[in-house]
Amino acid sequence: MHQDPFTTFKAGQREGWALFAPLETLTTPPAGALVAYAGVSAGARVLDVACGTGVVAVSAARLGAKVSALDLAPTLLERAHQNAAIAAVDIEFTEGDVEALPFADASFDIVISQFGHMFGPQPAVTVREMLRVLKPGGRIAFSTWPPELFTGLMFSLVSRYVPPPANVPATVLWGDPGVVAERLGSAVIDLEFERDVMQSPCLSPQHYRTTIEATAAPLLKLVQSLSDQPAQLAQFRRELENLIARFTQQNVLRQHFLMTRAHKR
Ligand SMILES: C[S@@+](CC[C@H](N)C(=O)[O-])C[C@H]1O[C@@H](n2cnc3c(N)ncnc32)[C@H](O)[C@@H]1O
Repeated sequence: MHQDPFTTFKAGQREGWALFAPLETLTTPPAGALVAYAGVSAGARVLDVACGTGVVAVSAARLGAKVSALDLAPTLLERAHQNAAIAAVDIEFTEGDVEALPFADASFDIVISQFGHMFGPQPAVTVREMLRVLKPGGRIAFSTWPPELFTGLMFSLVSRYVPPPANVPATVLWGDPGVVAERLGSAVIDLEFERDVMQSPCLSPQHYRTTIEATAAPLLKLVQSLSDQPAQLAQFRRELENLIARFTQQNVLRQHFLMTRAHKR
């Protein structure tokens, strides 16, 4: 039987993202932007990969698309079901892995992911799977974090304190258009990029740090890993708060994200 070489890594991701739900208030506005950028329309068959609490899936379903959505984390899928029920839309949610999508070849008109597929540890496998379930001529679209802006810099800072496994490429490479072009390669045409801005309330750098330490997997893991090294943890927190302050003005942390879209050949 096929043995996933990243089983332990993915188990960590599944557990690490369990508390992400409160951040859906921040990812809701960019979800609307991505769904528009992807050209989602009524009747289209859409797959939202690494859907979290379903903000993209619900946005697409509200436009009349027929939406399926998948995520590793069962607690987030529970919230996603609630979100769909509140919005009175039908969405098929599935617990699963972006690197082994449980869907037939060429099932979808649009495959979409917001700040999600980038956490698959093997980009080539992730791309292969997302394109496999997409119809020829269908559209792939996703949002990611540029390495030189806030979240990208934060991920790099986290990696300096707690390096990822040697065989997992840095997540932020997905925010570099050159790397994205290389990864999608000749399997796509009409590759385009656009940036949009995400704005997050920030009463103080300490408030923002406290929120993301309690919700975002890489930060949760870091705080656990450094729990017996208080000096290191304090140093990390100072560096993170400085970074937050650099991107914050008038109680708003502003950061651009990268949207990518292309058609499958
Ligand atoms: C930053 S959250 C984004 C969630 C959602 N797309 C949004 O915009 O609110 C990252 C998501 O990726 C999911 N994830 C991480 N690795 C995954 C994998 N290998 N397969 C499927 N989902 C994964 C996590 O469980 C989490 O829900």
